[in-house]
Amino acid sequence: MAAPHGKKNIIAGNWKMNLGVAASRALARGLRSSAEKLSKSEVWVAPSSIALEAVAQELKGSPIHYGAQNIAQEKSGAFTGELSVAMLTEIGCTFSLVGHSERRNVFGEPNSQCVARTIGVLKQGFTVVYCVGETLAERESNITSRVIEEQLVPVLQAISAQEAQNLVIAYEPVWAIGTGKVASTEQIADVHRAIALRVSETLGAGCPVPILYGGSVTAENFASIIQLEHVWGALVGGASLSVEKFAPLIQISEG
Ligand code: PGA
Repeated sequence: MAAPHGKKNIIAGNWKMNLGVAASRALARGLRSSAEKLSKSEVWVAPSSIALEAVAQELKGSPIHYGAQNIAQEKSGAFTGELSVAMLTEIGCTFSLVGHSERRNVFGEPNSQCVARTIGVLKQGFTVVYCVGETLAERESNITSRVIEEQLVPVLQAISAQEAQNLVIAYEPVWAIGTGKVASTEQIADVHRAIALRVSETLGAGCPVPILYGGSVTAENFASIIQLEHVWGALVGGASLSVEKFAPLIQISEG
């Protein structure tokens, strides 16, 4: 399905705590040619913080977007370990992930903090890929939609349609991340439909927010995922770490 209102599919790589500066630079260089002359897709990458500047240099003049894996809502100050919109903008970053399941579940960032980061950053006019998703226990308890509502609705209610222009939502079931267990197309379609509905109810039908799927996406399963209604790309971990695995995803999105 085509991305909403002229927006393109987003094929985003989350490199997590992988690849040092030299390896990140090499991967960025290797991806440049895969991202040329794309008509339906944009390529976004999120290297480690320490590699961002090298990736920025490597991607000069390329349409590939690069951004951070997390970002603070505050503009500056005593926030040890954090990055600001201004710092990222200075080196040409165009987005940040927020609320990735590893931030939530491994590092214990509460939902209220992920929500506050997202709202604070959107209000500074910077793009956020806001990650939502249920754990296996939550899915098995049939509370998937409630969990996603709790993660998403406070953000949607706090922003204007204008601010939502910079919002991208990534639906990533926690149990599908890095496990090789991809969600079924029915499960993905259901959650994406519910998210799209909630977005249009809260912000208006004329406010399309891209919704990406994430969780064990590979070249083997992506073709059946990207053709689903309300799926406008992917947030990819493991398969984003080499040109050989990531470039085919871009090609599948191009169709
Ligand atoms: P995975 O990670 O593709 O390795 O499952 C996805 C993500 O965490 O964004």
